[in-house]
Parts: sequence; C-alpha cells; structure tokens
Amino acid sequence: LFASVELAPRDPILGLTEQYVADKRGNKVNLGVGVYCDDQGRIPLLEAVRRAEIKRVEAAAARGYLPIDGIAGYNKGAQTLLLGPDSTLAAEGRVLTAQALGGTGALKIGADFLKQLLPDSKVAISNPSWENHRALFERAGFEVVAYTYYDAATHGLDFDGMLAYLRGLPARTIVVLHACCHNPTGVDPSFEQWQQIAQVFQEKQLVPFMDIAYQGFGAGLEEDAAVVRLFAGLGLDMLISSSFSKSFSLYGERVGALTMISGDRDESARVLSQLKRVIRTNYSNPPTHGGSVVSMVLNTPELYQLWTQELAGMRDRIRSMRDQLVDKLKAHGVKQDFEFVRKQRGMFSYSGLTSAQVDRLREEHGVYAIASGRICVAALNSRNVDYVAEAISKVL
Ligand code: LMR
Repeated sequence: LFASVELAPRDPILGLTEQYVADKRGNKVNLGVGVYCDDQGRIPLLEAVRRAEIKRVEAAAARGYLPIDGIAGYNKGAQTLLLGPDSTLAAEGRVLTAQALGGTGALKIGADFLKQLLPDSKVAISNPSWENHRALFERAGFEVVAYTYYDAATHGLDFDGMLAYLRGLPARTIVVLHACCHNPTGVDPSFEQWQQIAQVFQEKQLVPFMDIAYQGFGAGLEEDAAVVRLFAGLGLDMLISSSFSKSFSLYGERVGALTMISGDRDESARVLSQLKRVIRTNYSNPPTHGGSVVSMVLNTPELYQLWTQELAGMRDRIRSMRDQLVDKLKAHGVKQDFEFVRKQRGMFSYSGLTSAQVDRLREEHGVYAIASGRICVAALNSRNVDYVAEAISKVL
C-alpha cells in the first residue's frame, strides 16, 4: 500500500525547529519559528494565563463536547478585539465567529468554506508571504498567485506595484492580506496606503481574507486592528483569521478564530450553518482548555488588564531587541545599512541575508533562520544578541 509514497520535504519553518532540537551545540539560537521568548530565552507563561488556569482547574469543570463553533464568550471576545466593543456590524448581527485550531486552523476552515462558494476563484497571497499560505490554499484546491509586495532594494513596500497588481485581478479573487506585522517581512503599508488598497477591493470586488496573527505585537491591540476596522467600515464582506498563539503565548493550545462579516443577520446565520458543516467534517469541534483560558482572560476585567500589560511588555522587548541588533551589527564592523530592522514591525525581520548566508549561519554558528532570510527578532535576548550579530557579521 505505502510502497509508492515519496518522502515529503521538511516543513520550511517547523522542520527547522526539528533540526534545531537535534543540534547538540550549547550556543545554538533558534531564530526560525515565530515564537516569542523572554530575556531568559524561555517561552513565557503569562501571569494572566496562569491565574485563569488556576481558576479553571479549581472549578473542576466537566469536559463535554464544545459546540461545533466553540465557546460563545471566546468568539465574542475575539470579535471585540478585532472590531472594538461598540461595533455596529456586530450589533446588526453581521459578524460571526467560530473558534478554530490556531490561526492556521482558521485559514483552513475559511479556505474550505470558500472553495465551496467560489470554486473557480484564485487566491492571491503577497510576494513573499508566510510559507504555509500557498501550501494551505493549494491543498484546499485553489490556484494560488502572488501579488507584488516587498521591494528588496528599499527593504520596504512596492506600493505602486501592489496596487497595479491588485487592480488587474478578476472580480471575486480571494486576496490574503496581513492586517499587521507582515510575515515574513515586517513591512506593513501605512494607514493611508491601506485606505487606497481598500478602495481597490471595493472597485474590483476582491474578497479580503485578512490574516491577523500578531495583534498587539505592532503598535498596540487597537492600532493593529485598524486595518480590519477600515475594511469592515467600508461594508466589505470579508473573512478574518486571528490567533492568540503569540499574544497569549499559548502556541500549543491552538487558539485561533475565524470571523466573517456578511451583508445581514440572515446571511450570517446561513454562512455560520455552512461553516459548522466544514468544521464538523474536519475535526468535529474545538478543544476546551486553551479556549476557556483565553475566554476567561478576555471576559474578566482584572485579567484582561493584566494581559494587556504583559502583551505591551513583549512588544517593548521586541522593539528593544531590534535596536540592540542594529547597534551590535555596527559594533561588529558591519558596513551594510541595517537601519530598516528598527522600522519593521512585529516578530520578524526580513534581514536580506541570502539562503547561502543562512546556511552558513546555521552550519558554522548554530544560528537558525528561515531560508528566505527571515529572522525572528522576538527570540533574541540580552545574552544571545551579541553572538548573533557577530555570527551575521562573519557570514556577510
Ligand atoms: C511562523 O511563521 O513561524 C509561525 O506562524 C509558526 C508557524 O506555524 O509557521
């Protein structure tokens, strides 16, 4: 039966972690996967999460099946973070949310739902985009194209190229947008540019599928949701995949959500009924623990406040690591201009390192980065940043 099965290539991101774990060197550094580590190099357990977990264990709740679309309080909390507490759209019943298995799970159920609705549409992702976007939409049966995005020469956005590409897409093309903290480049359009992009979506009847996995890691929870609110405010029907993996440091709990904004209450009910069929036939219903913890934090004022403080702490630490990396590169005699690293947002920096340089970083120095040159700045700390800067200086 299995004789003809070929060996699949390693996953470009999670496969690198497997390699890192197997590496015996004591000074190894994993800047591959997008995971935030604290200054001790550990994935933090947030205090707000710890307190919610204690309450949950003390409550000794039964573990029955959750509804197919998950915990109501979780879904409402996810919606409120995206659209704000006073969303008219939500009050009008135009917003529906389903708990999902991380941001990836949200993308997948959204993709399966869209494949039924728009079987002939293509999906457009940014060039470059998160490694898994193309694979995920292709596996859902779509042809995937890439729209102009990053300009390597300026380490910035090719805005004119992006607009021109989007204008050329046929109506009902599904376009995946990174609402903040673009993965992998760390380069986001300005709000004024987003306004123009949104106009093209309206004119050309493109279907926005927003991916927001890093809300709170850019400028702040509210600021990072501005693009979602801009598109929603224009009355565009849309899909939004969101994730709490990073913002709650709950990677392994698979806490994400798919939110859709439709034309009216009745449409929402029909859309949700179809989405539930997609979920039921994929994994039946989501798991309880992570969702309950997030829901408790989002819906308990003291825990919510504590969480936002902890999130701000992570955001500030990443910014300071960006500054330190740039300064240390200079100190190690690097002549190339790395100032752009300070301006990029979120966990990642598209460093401009070539895949050959990335190979040398890993092989000669035990510093792991993605082949595209993406490094996870959130995994730098006061103990490894000098070593990483020195290693980069040696491979340049
Ligand atoms: C990443 O881009 O490293 C993260 O989103 C983790 C993942 O699932 O790839």
